[in-house]
Amino acid sequence: MKKGRFITFEGGEGCGKSTQIKRLESYLKEKGVEVLVTREPGGTRLAELIRGLLKDEKDDPPCDRAELLLFLAARAQLVKNVILPALESGVWVLSDRFSDSTFAYQGYGRGLDLEILKIANDFACDSLKPDLTLLLDVPPEVASARMRKREKETNTEADRIELAGDEFHRKLREGFHALAADESDRIHTIDASGTPDEVWEAVCRSLKRLI
Ligand SMILES: Nc1ncnc2c1ncn2[C@@H]1O[C@H](COP(=O)(O)OP(=O)(O)O)[C@@H](O)[C@H]1O
Ligand SMILES: [Mg+2]
Repeated sequence: MKKGRFITFEGGEGCGKSTQIKRLESYLKEKGVEVLVTREPGGTRLAELIRGLLKDEKDDPPCDRAELLLFLAARAQLVKNVILPALESGVWVLSDRFSDSTFAYQGYGRGLDLEILKIANDFACDSLKPDLTLLLDVPPEVASARMRKREKETNTEADRIELAGDEFHRKLREGFHALAADESDRIHTIDASGTPDEVWEAVCRSLKRLI
């Protein structure tokens, strides 16, 4: 039986997921809640190896179907070995991306059949669904400005997926909006174009339902 809560953060690169997850993690810990933060793809040894393949393989990049299956393999491993055991022991799990990213990127972005994605994803994650999903929504120009800032700060370069063009990022955002419209109880869209404090306030308003 699941006892902890499962909260996922979604949205394009640079929308502020990592920033808000850090805040929520500290906030919950202060309240005495045991918290585990995971990132997707990754979070187990095998899944981190798959993450490397997905992000860095430039000579023989995965085709769309291989990309999907790699993401799902990583997720299956994370759910079975990390997320479900944590939830069962009462830990709250915060995930930086989860199933909705698959629907947005591989479905709306790459054009793979959404119904097939939903069945395959459900199989991979043993039907686990988040209790709450926070979709951090920002216009593409804000996201790319933040990404450039982060690249400077951390001295890193954009990866294969981050480098996909504007058209892809536009489709992604529309995809996230469509997903949120379909499941408005679970997915809360947050305007993430304000300051980190403003976004955090909106995150707290959404959380009221769970706390
Ligand atoms: N609300 C915000 N306003 C301005 N800059 C932000 C905001 N949230 C995050 N940032 C900055 O933008 C960059 C991307 O944020 P990050 O949390 O890493 O996004 P993500 O994890 O969604 O890719 C970081 O440099 C971060 O400090
Ligand atoms: Mg991040």
